[in-house]
Amino acid sequence: MAKATIIDGKHFAARLRVSIAVQVARLKADHDLTPGLAVVLVGEDPASQIYVRNKGLQAREAGMNSFEHRLPADTSQTELLARIVELNRDSAVNGILVQLPLPKRIDPEAVIEAIAVEKDVDGFHPFNAGLLAVGGAGMVPCTPLGCLMMLKHYAGKLVGQRALVLGRSNIVGKPMAALLLREHCTVTIAHSRTRDLADECRRADILVAATGRAHMVKGDWIKPGATVIDVGINRIPTPDGKGRLVGDVDFDSAVAVAGAITPVPGGVGPMTIACLLLNTLNATCRQHGLPVPEVGPAAE
Ligand code: GUN
Repeated sequence: MAKATIIDGKHFAARLRVSIAVQVARLKADHDLTPGLAVVLVGEDPASQIYVRNKGLQAREAGMNSFEHRLPADTSQTELLARIVELNRDSAVNGILVQLPLPKRIDPEAVIEAIAVEKDVDGFHPFNAGLLAVGGAGMVPCTPLGCLMMLKHYAGKLVGQRALVLGRSNIVGKPMAALLLREHCTVTIAHSRTRDLADECRRADILVAATGRAHMVKGDWIKPGATVIDVGINRIPTPDGKGRLVGDVDFDSAVAVAGAITPVPGGVGPMTIACLLLNTLNATCRQHGLPVPEVGPAAE
């Protein structure tokens, strides 16, 4: 049976980071500007600690300044908001990201809304979400942006393609649908209450799965030749007790049907951080009235 092209997100993201680093170096040489990314982590969630460390590491590798703010788990919402006000005022900081999830006591919406719109490199601020909805030039959430870049590369011309986004979160599903609409796809958003979900999926030339349910999408839900982007990162138990990361798509059955598919891990994940760096670069340029540079995965 035909086998899908496996989209190597690790390699794709590495090439994108090279292209970003070139533009960061140019910004330094031409304008004496170094993009600064502040990442705020509240508490000691092990997964979040790894994400934050990687974000700092990759920002520095791209030539940016990285400012890590690790706050204790008992930090109050008032203290966190005060820290954000400081970062909003700090001209060395061009991008601010508050790592989610936050401790239960803290209202994530209040925190996101406190971040200056022009420094909101996560693209989660309602103003940026609104700009995306109306087609303006705001900050776009990193995961859907990374998915779109891969689709532009692997799915051929997007115009007129039938795209199904599975999941309706503010972080992935909704912005993903808006981006695909902007590319002139015919977009459907499906979710846990959608009727005949498998049939909806089977109609899609492009399928983006962001449900948070391990192996939910089976091979026989996929249209032969479709491009499948798997945003899920789910840990499932294994006999050795260590667990294993899998996506929302049942990769083994899907790979025999799809035209191209992202693996988990090594698909969408690496693109998310690369797009965070891209947003930080673009934010820096906009804050200084400079044109946003052309950046994309460097030629192989
Ligand atoms: N936690 C998991 N993914 C993300 C992300 O993309 N941004 C933020 N702020 N927190 C996250």
